[in-house]
Amino acid sequence: MSKKHPSPHTVIGIDIGGTGIKGGIVNLATGEIEGERYRISTPQPSTPQAVAKVVKEIVAELMTRDHAPAKDAPVGITFPAIISHGIARSAANVDQSWIDADVDKIFSKELGRDVQVMNDADAAGLAEARYGAGQGVKGTVLVITLGTGIGSAFIHDGKLIPNVELGHLEIDGVDAESKASATARERDGLDWDQYAVRLQRYFSHVEFLFSPELFIVGGGISKRSEDYLPQLKLRTKIIPAELANNAGIVGGALQAAVHFKLTK
Ligand code: BGC
Repeated sequence: MSKKHPSPHTVIGIDIGGTGIKGGIVNLATGEIEGERYRISTPQPSTPQAVAKVVKEIVAELMTRDHAPAKDAPVGITFPAIISHGIARSAANVDQSWIDADVDKIFSKELGRDVQVMNDADAAGLAEARYGAGQGVKGTVLVITLGTGIGSAFIHDGKLIPNVELGHLEIDGVDAESKASATARERDGLDWDQYAVRLQRYFSHVEFLFSPELFIVGGGISKRSEDYLPQLKLRTKIIPAELANNAGIVGGALQAAVHFKLTK
């Protein structure tokens, strides 16, 4: 593919998870990813240095492509932890050395360009609210991502209330994500019906606490939603994420674009 002019309409988004690190070139007008995503497994141990190296490699690969943004364009990065003013304040599914690390500084230094860092589920929520299943929904929308852990985004009237950690609600004496994440399903060898029982326990509790208008289920297994969502009995409508597992990449890029005033 021949590389033409850098695109002013795209931003790179990188989604860092406990299992994989994925990147894509996001078209801000449509919320779609241009071309293929690029994925590398999360290094183990997932120390700041090791993860930063992988992020650099992914950005470098994406920059060789058509539709790549300008060399100095900011990059949006999502991280599976509480992110407050660019600093990580937890590390449930990544190396503990991330706690209190200046994530913003680590990545901007490694990449030599501006970055905007946010929680991975918050990014997914933002993307669903702008481009996906949450578009135009008034009131509270909870986006719950089922992956290595359970992530959550709290959206009210289209606005994100960040760092809501609903994967760590204590239910039946344990951290909810230790029972109801996609990883817990695999670890415990559950079929979809058995998994739906755990999801029922989780979602009824969250529904009781927040009475949302809508639940949107994201993460890799949102593609298989017909295997477990129909079994759930809730007052609240529950639907799969429209951007499926791309939502983190798209939301991360969107947040960077908004922060650096490339878009509204
Ligand atoms: C973390 C969250 C994260 C979620 C999904 C949880 O264990 O605490 O910050 O959003 O996993 O990756």
